[in-house]
This record gives sequence, C-alpha cells and structure tokens, in this order.
Amino acid sequence: MITDLTPFDHFLNEHDDESWSATLTTLLRSIHEVDKNATQIWFAFYPISLFNTLKHADDPEKLARQLLMQGNYYLKDQIDSSHQFLYGHRYWPEVKAAVLKHAANFKAADAAALSDQILGVASLVAKQLKVDQSLVVGITAVAFMTMQQAGFAAFNKPGTMQLDKKHARKSPAEVLSERAKDDSQGLLGFLRTVNKKWTVTFDESDDHAHYKMNNIQDLAWGAAADRSRNWREIDPRRVEGPIPVECRSASCGTCWVGVLGGAEKLSDVAAREGKKIKEFGYIDTAEAKPLIRLACQAQTYGAVSIVIPAWNGVFGKYLRAQKEALERSLEARPENDNPNAHATNDRVN
Ligand code: FES
Repeated sequence: MITDLTPFDHFLNEHDDESWSATLTTLLRSIHEVDKNATQIWFAFYPISLFNTLKHADDPEKLARQLLMQGNYYLKDQIDSSHQFLYGHRYWPEVKAAVLKHAANFKAADAAALSDQILGVASLVAKQLKVDQSLVVGITAVAFMTMQQAGFAAFNKPGTMQLDKKHARKSPAEVLSERAKDDSQGLLGFLRTVNKKWTVTFDESDDHAHYKMNNIQDLAWGAAADRSRNWREIDPRRVEGPIPVECRSASCGTCWVGVLGGAEKLSDVAAREGKKIKEFGYIDTAEAKPLIRLACQAQTYGAVSIVIPAWNGVFGKYLRAQKEALERSLEARPENDNPNAHATNDRVN
C-alpha cells in the first residue's frame, strides 16, 4: 500500500500510551517547573490511545458520537494553538521548525530513544534562542506528539500562532509567583471562614480570564456566575460561564479541567469523582490532589489557575474494554495458530 507517511511518522507511530508515559516520566526531570504541570496536563488532554482508537475505527464519527465526544478533539485542527497554556508556547515557531527539520533528516536505522530525540531537538532550540533548555523540553515533547497525531504533512503546513505580548514578556519566576499568590482577605481575613473569596484564573495569558468564588465552592459553581462574555458563542459547550457543564454531579464528564497551579488548594478527590473520572478516561490515579479534576466536584480553599480543555467525552471504559479484548486475542493466538495445540486438545477431550 502506498502511503504518504514519512519514516519519522512510522517511528512515532510505534509509540503508544505506555511508551509515551515512560518518555514523559524520563523528560519530567528536565522540564522547568513553570511547564511541569502544563506538560502533564497537555498529555492528559490529548491521549494517543484515544486518537489511535478513532483513527482505526471503521466509522470514526459514529464512534465519536458513541463516546459522547464534544468540542475540538483532533490535534490536526489545532496544531499551533492546543498548547497555549505552556510557557514554552512562546518558542513554538522555533520548536516546530526544529522538529520538522529533525523529521526530514530522520533515519530509522540511527533512531535513538524517543526521549533522547526530544532532548536533542530541545537542546538545539535552546542554543538557537539562548534560553535554558528546561524551558523548551515540554513544548518539544508536545511538538513530537502533535506530529504523531497530525502527521508530518499537516504539521508542515504554515500556521498562525497567537501570543499575548504582555504575557510573553513575563519570566518563568513571575508566572510561578502569580500562580502561588492567594487573595488577600483583608486585615481580619484570618477570622473569616465561609465568606473568603478566591480568584480562579482560567487563561493565564488573558488578564480578564478569571472569576471570583466563595471558599469551599466547587470550581464550576463559581464559574457559572461569570457573565463577562458570551461564553456560548466562544464554545457551544459553555452554557453557563467559561467551564462547560451539564450534570453538575460527576455523571457526564463535561467539566474536566487541568490544574496548572494550586492543586493543593482544592478538596481531595472524593470516591465518586475518583471513580467517574477514571470511567470518563481523563486520568487514572489514586492521588488525592491530581492535576486533572472535575470542576463540578473540586472545591477550592484558595486561588487556583486552571486550563479548560477544548473537548470532552466518555471513553475510559471503552478503551479498557478494547485493550482487554486485544490482550485476550493475543493470549489465544499461539494456541489457535498452532495445529499441534488443537491435536493435543482433541486428544485430551
Ligand atoms: S458537569 Fe457533569 S461531570 Fe461535572
């Protein structure tokens, strides 16, 4: 079969959730604090297992409907924008060009491990830009995954990138310090309990993208009061405020968010949130305060910075069932392929 896939596309396509997860674990120690959470959140937002399942489906649109997917879930449609919440987004043009060059020169016979290739490209970009390599490792990993999901040809198309100039001037230390800030509650604030107010930032690159909420309110409830824009016009899933919501009871999976800063200031994951978020497919962890949360369940005890994904769906159970079916068929194969095995079974029976 003739395909327009490059050798680098083929190399990337050998990597599944498990190999990417191992790669990310290796890379995390080389990623600057300012992008550690952001990179992990981005990889949770764009899982390769879901992409591959849709790609290989007989009817991807039908499957997407079955998985209740809404919004913009294909990276090919957001190559230059999906990662706006990473600090490294400002280096995207250089990273993109370097990854394209790396892909064009790639030779399968000399292929190093995926993590080493990412670090190699990040090192070249850092030298070119005269910045610390740790600031470009996360965004370079994002570029590799984006190319895997979008393909070389789509990745190679010229794109447009938005970058807020004021945000772009901030140093990593400034961004981290803004994330760590809590709202002053006034002189006698320490005496207050329920009437404390906290700021939730939902786009760090936009000075107006924040709302206030009461202490111990859930993130989605606080967002509903934000009528500063026509949210529905921006994204039809946003029926009430900036965070998409439907059920408000951990049943639909619409309200998932990433927590860039302040995860420790949210309530612990309760049993229902933990069970449902795994069923939806967003995260599978026993952590009490993970980076991915359901906004209708996570209550806040301080100022936080979150990211709202461009899509939502319910795919965790489906992917697990697919994986188990594949494992069962692989386990069964040697016996079925082996005529002697049948002969032995016949004799036993
Ligand atoms: S709004 Fe349905 S899970 Fe949160």
